[in-house]
Amino acid sequence: MLIPSTLRAEAAGTVRVRVATSDGSRYPVQVGAGALVDLSDLLQREARAHRYVLMGDDRVMGLHGDTVAEAMAPATADPARLTFPAGEAAKSREEWSRLTDQLLELEVGRDGCIVALGGGVSGDLVGFVAATYMRGLPVVQVPTSLVAMVDSSVGGKTGVDVPLGKNLVGAFHPPRFVLADTHLARTLPREERSQGLAEVVKHGAIADEDYLDQVRDGAGELLQGADELTARVVARSVEIKSWVVSKDEREGSLRQVLNFGHTLGHALEAASDYELPHGSAVALGMILEARLGEALKITEAGTAEVLVQALEAVELPVDPSTAMEDPDRILAHLSRDKKVRGGRPRFVLLDRIGEVHRGPSSSPAWSHQVPIEAVRDLLEV
Ligand SMILES: NC(=O)c1ccc[n+]([C@@H]2O[C@H](COP(=O)([O-])OP(=O)(O)OC[C@H]3O[C@@H](n4cnc5c(N)ncnc54)[C@H](O)[C@@H]3O)[C@@H](O)[C@H]2O)c1
Ligand SMILES: [Zn+2]
Repeated sequence: MLIPSTLRAEAAGTVRVRVATSDGSRYPVQVGAGALVDLSDLLQREARAHRYVLMGDDRVMGLHGDTVAEAMAPATADPARLTFPAGEAAKSREEWSRLTDQLLELEVGRDGCIVALGGGVSGDLVGFVAATYMRGLPVVQVPTSLVAMVDSSVGGKTGVDVPLGKNLVGAFHPPRFVLADTHLARTLPREERSQGLAEVVKHGAIADEDYLDQVRDGAGELLQGADELTARVVARSVEIKSWVVSKDEREGSLRQVLNFGHTLGHALEAASDYELPHGSAVALGMILEARLGEALKITEAGTAEVLVQALEAVELPVDPSTAMEDPDRILAHLSRDKKVRGGRPRFVLLDRIGEVHRGPSSSPAWSHQVPIEAVRDLLEV
């Protein structure tokens, strides 16, 4: 499934991708090195409001809050600013509650608009605040981490974590637009960039072999945060994810292909008590799921090795044995997964790099049940 690319650079090198939402509307994702210059125009065109509130985690707001607030003029001269502590722990009902109370204290009404600045935590938490405050205010996403640019800002999912699990309380709330300026990601630590590149490698693996090669070859530059290449990669990943998400409605369950590497990735993450970061877990998950496909004679031999090389280049872990000390624990988490039916976990398997396996033409499907024994064999090697 080579997902076609129609990317065209607009003025000043920015690229615009249009993302379709479930209600048939579309919103723009503007990507570029320096794209922030377009923020005020976009606010006036796509998200006109009486008042704007800029919200983000304290780390990102400290680094970029002033720059972004200035770029909001003349749409707004001095937006109110609300912050919360950086880190996953802020994606909580408590923080949601505190922020919605603060909006009430500021007397923000239904004619307000919220700008979410930061990584995926900010996008999810602030997006959920916007989805629920006064039954929904428009939100604009200004992602600053690679994870947020290539993954969480596309698709409209927002929410918080609860004691029983991550992302269990939330809402679909697509933004009015997304503006991804790779200049803002210059301050992102190298390890965070590496984490984001796990999803980028996944996009290449499921949809575009050439793209995977470009990412592997450009890994050094991407890890250093080279603006132009990062912007090209963000645009292509947004294009792939949004193509999949928007086709999902018509091609039933196509969205599942985005779960490549995630069935085992989530199990590894949970079995480590979330010590293993998501991108690292997905890297190992992709390698294991490619090996599983190879063992089942579905995936072309050598595919797992191609992934190992790309993942190694972007400084992600490539030796699953380090995270598999207790296979029983991983299997237990696997069978608790929401997607497991009848004790047989489901996997997205590749035919080869760039091609997801569809199964027999009599019953095509984007994910496949695999006997637990085959998974056990894989984990016990
Ligand atoms: N909604 C979705 O579809 C979706 C998809 C993928 C991930 N997510 C969610 O996203 C979250 C992970 O996102 P994340 O990795 O961006 O986490 P994050 O938002 O916690 O950001 C990671 C760290 O980087 C810092 N940071 C962000 N941008 C920076 C910058 N430009 N300069 C310096 N530091 C910066 C943050 O302050 C934080 O400390 C998880 O909660 C996950 O569930 C959601
Ligand atoms: Zn993921």
